Amino acid sequence: MPLKKLQNISLKPYNTFGIDVKAKQMLIIQDIYELSDAFEHIFATGSPWLILGGGSNVLFTKDYNGTIIKLSIKGTQVLEKTAGQVFIRVYCGEIWDDFVDFCVNNNWGGLENLSLIPGNVGAGPIQNIGAYGKELKDHFYSLEAMEVKSGTIRQFNESDCAFDYRNSIFKTKLKDKYVICSVIFKLDMTNKIERSYKELDEYLTKNDLASPTIKDMRRAVIQIRKSKLPDPKHLGNAGSFFKNPVISIQSFGELKRKYPHLPAHKHKNGYMKIPAGWLIEQAGWKGYRKDDVGVYEKQALVIVNYGNAKGSNVVDMVNKITQSVYERFGIKLEPEVNIIES
Ligand code: FAD
Ligand code: EPU
Repeated sequence: MPLKKLQNISLKPYNTFGIDVKAKQMLIIQDIYELSDAFEHIFATGSPWLILGGGSNVLFTKDYNGTIIKLSIKGTQVLEKTAGQVFIRVYCGEIWDDFVDFCVNNNWGGLENLSLIPGNVGAGPIQNIGAYGKELKDHFYSLEAMEVKSGTIRQFNESDCAFDYRNSIFKTKLKDKYVICSVIFKLDMTNKIERSYKELDEYLTKNDLASPTIKDMRRAVIQIRKSKLPDPKHLGNAGSFFKNPVISIQSFGELKRKYPHLPAHKHKNGYMKIPAGWLIEQAGWKGYRKDDVGVYEKQALVIVNYGNAKGSNVVDMVNKITQSVYERFGIKLEPEVNIIES
């Protein structure tokens, strides 16, 4: 079958920020053979390329003068059930939250705290998606990825991926070297739940859920998320624009003396994680709007597009926020969103 190609198309429906730029070409990839054909075609033409899943963690800043490889490889297979655990392979083009819903409906636990995160399965390991006290790595078993240069498939286990907070080897040493094709998760068949995230625990207590099921956990996470994160269908955004900064206990102590209300969570190895949303709010940005770009009124970590914002307008505001947080707190915010500049 010939590759499904779209020429000179608007990317507005393909990014949750709703930025209206054009791409010279888009290839829709439905299986692994098409993926290697796509790279042969790209190498033959010398075109720049970009892998795209659901487009919920990217910011386009100009028209893309190359080929967008839109991954749409679907499929979910239950591989093995052992004492208390189930191993499931899921392909990169599946919608993440559909997969979480499928697991929760089967009473396979582990991913319920990651409910309602937009995007596709294949992007999950890239930044080791996380929410409400859980990260993808907690239930990761392995993944298969295609090496771009050679077209060969390689298996990665957990230690190969170097997962960290909003990070993995695919964002660092192996950036743009592999395309993640499928992921195997290991889930629990017993009702283990994780309620240590303060806001989640408070929600459960308030709703008399002393012994919640994983279905209760999914419902709770969905409710909390809906109460403070904008739905990209109505208001363009890419979730948290910045990562929460991780600083040493010493620096934290110094800041805490100056700002006694500074919130923080223990990270690892003597480091503390500071909510960037707090820093941005304290710097006066929450609810700020200039033309069609704004800082979301219910969550200062989220930058929103009120309609016709350009990526460059978003970058301008992001630079101003970064500068003002640095001047006030001496902390340099780093974007979580992948800014596409070429
Ligand atoms: P895309 O945006 O399409 O791609 C992201 C990056 O990964 C790009 O650099 C792309 O080139 C690369 N990529 C994508 N797929 C592959 C692949 N198969 N192989 C190699 N590279 C690939 N994230 C969290 O961690 N926690 C949250 O709670 C959370 N909440 C969010 C809430 C909202 C409202 C929104 C809009 C976003 C949120 N996000 C959150 C961010 C985002 O949903 C995740 O990062 C998600 O995993 C991105 O998936 P995607 O398919 O949309 O990736
Ligand atoms: N806060 C403020 N003002 C704000 C927002 C937050 O003061 O406007 C402070 C409050 O102290 C609040 C704390 O920040 O208690 C934490 O806020 P929240 O629970 O909303 O979480 P977050 O740290 O802002 C992170 C992730 C989210 C994830 C939630 C829940 C990052 C960069 N963001 O946000 O992930 O859903 O925790 O676990 O780690 C994403 O990555 O796109 C994303 C949405």
